[in-house]
Amino acid sequence: NLTVSDPLRHVDSMSLIPYGAGKIDHLNAVVLGEALASEDNDLVVPSEEFSRQALVPSIEKYLEMYRRSVEDPAGFWSEIASEFYWKKKWGEQVVTENLDVKKGTVKIEWFKSGVTNICYNSLDRNIEAGNGDKIALYWEGNDLGQDGALTYTELLAKVCQLSNYLKDVGVAKGDAVIIYLPMLMELPIAMLACARIGAVHSVVFAGFSADSLAQRIIDCKPKAVITCNAVRRGPKVINLKDIVDAALIQSSNEGISVGVCLTYENELVMKREATKWKTGRDIWWQDTVPKYPKTCEVEWVDAEDPLFLLYTSGSTGKPKGVLHTTGGYMIYTATTFKYAFDYKPSDIYWCTADCGWITGHSYVTYGPLLNGASVVVFEGAPNHPDSGRCWDIVDKYKVTIFYTAPTLVRSLMRDGNEFVTRYSRKSLRVLGSVGEPINPSAWRWFYNVVGDSGCPISDTWWQTETGGFMITPLPGTWPQKPGSATLPFFGIQPAVVDEKGIEIEGECSGYLCVKKSWPGAFRTLYGDHERYETTYFKTFSGFYFSGDGCSRDKDGYYWLTGRVDDVINVSGHRIGTAEVESALVSHPQCAEAAVVGVEHEVKGQGIYAFVTLVEGVPYSEELRKSLILMVRKQIGAFAAPDKIHWAPGLPKTRSGKIMRRILRKIASRQLDELGDTSTLADPGVVDQLIALSDS
Ligand code: WT7
Repeated sequence: NLTVSDPLRHVDSMSLIPYGAGKIDHLNAVVLGEALASEDNDLVVPSEEFSRQALVPSIEKYLEMYRRSVEDPAGFWSEIASEFYWKKKWGEQVVTENLDVKKGTVKIEWFKSGVTNICYNSLDRNIEAGNGDKIALYWEGNDLGQDGALTYTELLAKVCQLSNYLKDVGVAKGDAVIIYLPMLMELPIAMLACARIGAVHSVVFAGFSADSLAQRIIDCKPKAVITCNAVRRGPKVINLKDIVDAALIQSSNEGISVGVCLTYENELVMKREATKWKTGRDIWWQDTVPKYPKTCEVEWVDAEDPLFLLYTSGSTGKPKGVLHTTGGYMIYTATTFKYAFDYKPSDIYWCTADCGWITGHSYVTYGPLLNGASVVVFEGAPNHPDSGRCWDIVDKYKVTIFYTAPTLVRSLMRDGNEFVTRYSRKSLRVLGSVGEPINPSAWRWFYNVVGDSGCPISDTWWQTETGGFMITPLPGTWPQKPGSATLPFFGIQPAVVDEKGIEIEGECSGYLCVKKSWPGAFRTLYGDHERYETTYFKTFSGFYFSGDGCSRDKDGYYWLTGRVDDVINVSGHRIGTAEVESALVSHPQCAEAAVVGVEHEVKGQGIYAFVTLVEGVPYSEELRKSLILMVRKQIGAFAAPDKIHWAPGLPKTRSGKIMRRILRKIASRQLDELGDTSTLADPGVVDQLIALSDS
């Protein structure tokens, strides 16, 4: 007897078949492990065997837990939080929140006045529980044969040495530290070392350019930058220290001086002699850090003290510093990791994401280590030396949970099944996907070929801002539909709203919002709470707006349809069209630029840039290249446009607003869907652009 206001009403309406004991009466279902998922079956049902061992063995159990989580969030999350170590318990008010701008400042607090430390809970706590000799991190280098491992005890010792070093050079609680490292074990070590002493880490993906790095340094004014001399990506050598040097020059021109640049010598790639050096500022990690004691007192922090800043793209040119705090983030990443991957202590877990993105924060470092898991950290490229590398790694470490992005799935799918079937992969039991909607055909290939039709796929929908999973399958708990992220995680109340911000019930499509806060939610945008409120809480008043579109089917399953704002998602990397445009127009010969996303077979979306040149400048191949170079330089190679379309004029309204809707149609060659062009100041530009499409 559900009422309309019941958060479970969408879920309970499910016409889904019973699993476990029941017989499958859904016509188009296939049972996990029994047959291939094909286009004819739209449902993949967990096997009894899988469900029986699952942490949440039935949908009834999920509904019971979900109901509790939304009816009594404080009680639900407190119980989980009690499994972690708190120096001092949180206050009576477990959660304080206001998501409604009309009622005042947006505010989210969880476990306020509780005192804890996420590094302590990730390492010391697991060691005290007797897991000191368990492998915490396995490291697999770019080239075959390069590897390493650290137990929980060894990892803690390395973290403590770095914590002690950082304290010694003056990094204190609340200070920012920028980490610009490839996927060496030193990257999670550096994150944990900051967390241990209450410093706020800001990891910058090591594919960002010097300009982008400088922008972030200027914004958060770090006390130290941690990097390494060089990295090999596939066959290429990239000198990271040179990039950091250039960024530090730029930031010091802006009056931000960074006292310390700690550099790890990646001697497998480049000897230190080849590295440019600034005495007094630059320090070799290996010369210094190992001299420090292997134990380090924990800096106990309030649950609401900041843990990290992570810059992400929005619809304006300036990246946003997403700020996460300690307590809620800790509980949320640990819990989502555990349930969405049906984690068991015997699992070997591998997430292919880089710690430079949120996935690497929540699901390479914190979530798994908080659970005492063994984590594979992979430095290299998944197609080096060939497209079988991932499965080689899976077999080498007996990986049981493999979490990756649709773009990788699609690129490996294109390379052919032989690269997969050459390896056993029999250790795998759960697969995961993140970063963008996974198209059903890639889902089926992942499921049938990689997982031999025996592994559920957790298609996890979430965002940098959400800290952890929001909508995700729980393996073995309910049937999956290829391409759907399925149902909300505990405590998450999604709302689909229309353009007016009115919540829509039942089967529908619209804008995906969330009602109520959850422990892992970001608390602000660093230094700009107003932008936080405007971007996320003002569009649809009373809700957190994700920026994504979605639909919900008759069973209550969610289907994400992509961004509805000016953000494009290239290989799971989030790029603001405005950032690319501002890089393009900084080219002296470019007068105006308009960037849109287009469908891309492997990357999900590709970057399509329309450019207008300065009067009298002819368009040439050379100019095309130098425009692309400009974007690589200002943002990074991953943001390089796939296509530059020379536009003598852009379609604008009479008030001068670029009509991107039309540009998107031209870019995707949907010329019969251009729609109404009569409101354009000069409708003629459309034909001109179409004529220039293939230039
Ligand atoms: C955007 C967030 C969350 C970690 C990686 C990206 C898209 C993410 C899914 C998914 C459909 C997804 C959304 C979201 N997205 N996961 N499973 N299905 N779309 O984090 O850079 O903050 O990007 O990625 O559009 O808004 P991010």
